[in-house]
Amino acid sequence: MVAGNWKMNGDIVSNERLLNAVRHGLEGAPLPGVDVLVCPPFPYLSQAASWLGNTAVAWGAQNVSAFPNGAYTGEVSATMLADLGCRWVIVGHSERRQLSGETDQVVAAKVEMALAQNLGVIVCVGETLQEREAGQAEAVLGRQVDAVVPVVAKLAPERLVIAYEPVWAIGTGRTASPEMAQDAHSFIRGRLAAGGYAAAGSVRILYGGSVKSANAASLFAMPDIDGGLIGGAALVAEDFLGICRAAAVR
Ligand code: PGA
Repeated sequence: MVAGNWKMNGDIVSNERLLNAVRHGLEGAPLPGVDVLVCPPFPYLSQAASWLGNTAVAWGAQNVSAFPNGAYTGEVSATMLADLGCRWVIVGHSERRQLSGETDQVVAAKVEMALAQNLGVIVCVGETLQEREAGQAEAVLGRQVDAVVPVVAKLAPERLVIAYEPVWAIGTGRTASPEMAQDAHSFIRGRLAAGGYAAAGSVRILYGGSVKSANAASLFAMPDIDGGLIGGAALVAEDFLGICRAAAVR
């Protein structure tokens, strides 16, 4: 899977150009075996829905409320996303954990809400530079994975995606080496299994953090790296398509 996280970028005109270019790029040269997904900001989800329709490109949201409905100003519920035809949602991105104070418990509640509406979830985990340098990377990843395992325990592996995104690699141009990412992915897979997630062997674990078309192939060549969650490079059609192609030759 290659998923584009557009973050808080775009407008109607530039989105249309980007959606069209990605769609036509994949229609012209299909990539069997690669699930391609774009996640625009909430106001543009219906734009994505109408431009992508039933094409090879799926679309999803970047966040979802931990609550079902009610007096939560500014929030968007899983029911609303499902109502719109949304199939995927990113949960627990490090920017939300850091900027909006999302705890492991909040992330688990959001995953639960999304699953109740039959959405697929991309659960993000990752350590900060300080945590890595203090030798705590695995402790942090373990804690973040453990928090969601009870909620996803019975979920089919097609609907669960984990994204390993070391915080120090996001938007910094500093990518984890393929070996370093592989170690983290293998740790995450093992932790899912240890927590009782039976399908841990086949769940997709994406790497995120400064993935570009130039470094994607070496990351995707690693045995436990099953694709990427792409920020900056997802905003440029040719860069994003290049990353999708790198996933196809894996
Ligand atoms: P980046 O972002 O590719 O711009 O580093 C990745 C992400 O935050 O999902």
